[in-house]
Amino acid sequence: MDIKNIGIAGAGIMGSSMGQIFASYGYKVVIYDLFEKALEPARQRISQALDALVSKNEMMAEQKKNTLSRISFSSDMKSLKDCDFLVECVVEDMGIKHKFFEQLSEIMREDAIIASNTSGLSITKIAESVKNPARFAGMHWFNPPHIIPLIEVIKGDKTAQETADIIYDISLKIGKKPIYVNKDVPGFIANRIQLAVMRECVYMLENGIGTAEDIDKCMKYALGFRYACIGPFEVVDFGGLDTFYHVADYLWEDLSDAKKPYGLFKKLIEEKNLGVKTGKGFYDYSGDKAKKALDRRDKLFLTLKEAKLEN
Ligand SMILES: NC(=O)c1ccc[n+]([C@@H]2O[C@H](COP(=O)([O-])OP(=O)(O)OC[C@H]3O[C@@H](n4cnc5c(N)ncnc54)[C@H](O)[C@@H]3O)[C@@H](O)[C@H]2O)c1
Repeated sequence: MDIKNIGIAGAGIMGSSMGQIFASYGYKVVIYDLFEKALEPARQRISQALDALVSKNEMMAEQKKNTLSRISFSSDMKSLKDCDFLVECVVEDMGIKHKFFEQLSEIMREDAIIASNTSGLSITKIAESVKNPARFAGMHWFNPPHIIPLIEVIKGDKTAQETADIIYDISLKIGKKPIYVNKDVPGFIANRIQLAVMRECVYMLENGIGTAEDIDKCMKYALGFRYACIGPFEVVDFGGLDTFYHVADYLWEDLSDAKKPYGLFKKLIEEKNLGVKTGKGFYDYSGDKAKKALDRRDKLFLTLKEAKLEN
């Protein structure tokens, strides 16, 4: 399928960044948001992100101009009618997504490919409001989208393999590392791994086994360090299945199998300590600490990205 025109629905954190990426790879992009007031901040975010690339000599000023000229912004859903491919990035609410897709189905061509960037809502359930659900799948990006390479392509019960393949191919074309999620399970693949790790980390913190700093160091300087280069199955292959089998045999039964995130996690939420955005989470982000932490994060992410990991 020849995809030229791309629609992004939802001009928030994810949608604006995706629009920038598609446009920088030569696609014509329409960024649509229900709320007119969301459009100017999105345009500014894109412009600032492109300026940062120009100042680091990763993009020529001319390329920035061309990228911006390929993006249009609209609060009129009809602006999406000529799109060959659309990624939905509206708020994570099944009711809102259903209403959006019902309206969209009246506007878009029936053969246009449609994807949702939902973090974890069921693709099969979202598809109930999509006309011709064979052309619909999940396309799960990671924040910040311009840095993190992975994209999960999730097949719902009615997704055609061809649809998943088209989304996979376009992900490759924009320099991403796509994977297929063959079953529409909660959390897809990445969030299942992430939340399993998080459950154990919170359990260890609650039980005084280590401090947040030391548990994070364990990930950064051993496990995560390794996982940036080889995955968990490769780790086991290199270490020896017999060794890992023996460890799993005595350790799995001792790991947290908590069914709900109650305890410390819930307490922090109840105290409105939501992390960087409120100035406190597991760590303190008061004053300029949040900006410093974000700058440090993005600098390190970019260093890793520049290492050009293969496979
Ligand atoms: N932020 C993340 O880290 C992240 C990562 C992966 C996936 N996601 C998913 O991406 C989606 C968007 O997340 P975000 O962080 O960009 O959210 P956001 O709140 O920054 O942006 C959502 C945008 O959707 C708009 N919107 C709301 N209702 C709409 C409608 N009916 N039609 C059109 N636009 C509408 C809002 O005005 C807002 O601009 C969610 O499904 C989220 O779960 C987010």
